[in-house]
Amino acid sequence: MTDLILGQVLSYTGDPFAEGPSAARVITDGAVAVEGPHIAAVGQAADLRARYPRARVHDHGSKLVSAGFIDAHVHYPQTAIIASWGKRLIDWLNTYTFPEEMRFADPAYAEEIANRYLDLVLARGTTTVSTYATIHPASVDAIFSAARTRGMRLFAGKTCMDRNAPDGLRDSARSAYDDSKALLEKWHGRDRLAYVITPRFSPTSTPEQLHALGQLWHEHPDCLMQTHLCEQTDEIAWVRDLFPQSRDYLDTYEAQGLLREGAVYGHAIHLSDRERARLIEAGASLVHCPTSNTFIGSGLFDMTLAHHLRVGLATDTGGGSNFSMLRTMAAAYEVAQLRGQSLHPAQLWWLATQGSARALRCEDRIGTIAPGMEADLVVIDLASTPAIEQATRRAENLWQAVFPTIMMGDDRAVAEVWVGGRRRG
Ligand code: GUN
Ligand code: ZN
Repeated sequence: MTDLILGQVLSYTGDPFAEGPSAARVITDGAVAVEGPHIAAVGQAADLRARYPRARVHDHGSKLVSAGFIDAHVHYPQTAIIASWGKRLIDWLNTYTFPEEMRFADPAYAEEIANRYLDLVLARGTTTVSTYATIHPASVDAIFSAARTRGMRLFAGKTCMDRNAPDGLRDSARSAYDDSKALLEKWHGRDRLAYVITPRFSPTSTPEQLHALGQLWHEHPDCLMQTHLCEQTDEIAWVRDLFPQSRDYLDTYEAQGLLREGAVYGHAIHLSDRERARLIEAGASLVHCPTSNTFIGSGLFDMTLAHHLRVGLATDTGGGSNFSMLRTMAAAYEVAQLRGQSLHPAQLWWLATQGSARALRCEDRIGTIAPGMEADLVVIDLASTPAIEQATRRAENLWQAVFPTIMMGDDRAVAEVWVGGRRRG
């Protein structure tokens, strides 16, 4: 059975940071043909109706049909402590995050939050995330199981910490290696799931633990490795004290085999010239987390980096203050404005879809609409509230019509979500 999804179909033929907005392609009276888990064809609605006369038709009029959003850096265990008041990074971790992550020793609680989290993001049009779990292996089982039930492509890993974390929330170099390896062997490549080697960040890992995880990555080179880098200035000063032998924060990872293609660093705000150059040279990915970077007071990411390496976009739930990638695009726009850069809506949307797919090195499967890609789709109402509708009415082109939804849209803008060729909302 073929499904035909009709609307204004948005896809990308290139990178709008390199080529400008012309990298986006919009088919005004467009259609996407979905067969099984994949996209079979994209084109004019009239043509595809003729080609698939027996298809089930889902006519969305002038709504936007896009690839589903990809949130390239989240902590699903922080779902319940999102929007916690008044702290900066290290105090925020100690006050809110670590006590909450301790609760994931209970597999039933992990399962409850994993399901709640995926329901929240699917309702906001996010079809893939890359998430940190907690140190507990069962927290990884919980999120992969919840994703599998929903047919989602999902990246996750056990968060490793063997120092500067409370009792009950520390593993060791050995157990981090053993547990991560067992989880990787259990989940990586199963259905649409991918294991990510996940040291939390250098302040909570000894060099021995980073080394053990570097070794594991060496043994499983097709996995991604995710961690945090240069988020706050206090954090960087702490890393300098903890690793006196290292040239800089990035070097604490590089020295243990945790820098190369497939490394995905969250935040990366306060980079030295050397770090910047090495990241580019090594082909690493960075993830911009704008609502988190303002909410926890971290700083303003330099979006010009997107001209030099793979940059994805993320909520960083729950350091980020919202589950929505629309709100995250708005924050990315505002942060860039504060740095004197105006991001085009075509660039913002790309970051939340293909940019994140590239950062996670899965752009051959998800992140845009093209034949053969997996059918993860979101249908967006560009007039979802009276405030947005009245602003959109004046639009003279698609991007003017999309921008009010980027800036003011929320879950009410999400009309339909498709995951792996099936309707999920
Ligand atoms: N750095 C280390 N752990 C975290 C975390 O959970 N959230 C954020 N925003 N930064 C971190
Ligand atoms: Zn994070």
